[in-house]
Amino acid sequence: MVIARLSNERDPGDPATVTARIISGKEVASRIHAEVSAGVEEYREKYDGVPGLSVVLIGDDPASHSYVKGKELACEMVGIKTETIRRDASTTQAELLGIVEGLNRDPQVHGILVQLPLPKHLDESTVIHAIDPMKDVDGLHPENAGLLLLGRPRFAPATPLGVQRMLVEENVNMNGARVVIVGRSKLVGMPLAALLLQKGPGANSTVTVCHTGTKDIAAETKRADVLIAAAGFPGTVTVDMVKPGAVVIDVGVSRVDDPSRKRGYRLTGDVDFESVSEVASAITPVPGGVGPMTIAMLLVNVLRAANLAATNQDHNRKTDEIPLE
Ligand code: GUN
Repeated sequence: MVIARLSNERDPGDPATVTARIISGKEVASRIHAEVSAGVEEYREKYDGVPGLSVVLIGDDPASHSYVKGKELACEMVGIKTETIRRDASTTQAELLGIVEGLNRDPQVHGILVQLPLPKHLDESTVIHAIDPMKDVDGLHPENAGLLLLGRPRFAPATPLGVQRMLVEENVNMNGARVVIVGRSKLVGMPLAALLLQKGPGANSTVTVCHTGTKDIAAETKRADVLIAAAGFPGTVTVDMVKPGAVVIDVGVSRVDDPSRKRGYRLTGDVDFESVSEVASAITPVPGGVGPMTIAMLLVNVLRAANLAATNQDHNRKTDEIPLE
């Protein structure tokens, strides 16, 4: 199948530009917020209710608290009803599973997000498995992860969706592009590879995933038209690892000490931004790049979950079929 090329699409890897264009995730995210707001209004008119997201936050990890705050604020901005269930780090597995079961049963809750990482004594996969897959707006439940791999996505994780949407909005021609992802996490690297491999617009790419077992990461990244850094370590991608003209997406967010800042730290990505922006054709900043897109795509998933619940029209689960779980 040949996928039609949008008339203004650019080929990544074209070294015509010398200084990288900065891709603003903030700008793209605010357009998505407007779309979701309109969708929430439509939902309200049709069903006389509002989409609802429940977030479960266990423990006191400062980065997790800050991410959850961002999610709450974004929900409020677009009219999604949100509540965060906060519990301290001593919460037991049974207590957490009880919370998830209660949310599964609550018809006002369309989306459930258990903020990760969980404290060490809690088993992430058991907890994620307990979430109703129709409310799994994180796309991490094995049913949803499997559907994505099969090319029938119901909910894909928000960060990979955000990366893909940014590339599409940036008019990067992904069809046949050589994409190299550094990092194979369940939340980003693996689902992003699955998304970009699919046949269809904004995808159909040739995808390589690098990880700790990769023999020569630079040899792989230097071939990338689109290079996506999702390792979670500052300095993972340096300028010598980037092909001139490549599009570089930085998913990493790390806190590094910075006594010159009032809060004592600054956020930094995986990519050496200063030097890489001199050879890339486009690059995302940290902060203000992928981060806002993650939140925006979570909102999209919550609205989708609410509509699926209202219409019972999930093409992956027809009512005459036996449910998968
Ligand atoms: N921790 C960091 N990012 C995420 C995310 O997208 N979802 C969840 N559940 N936890 C996270």
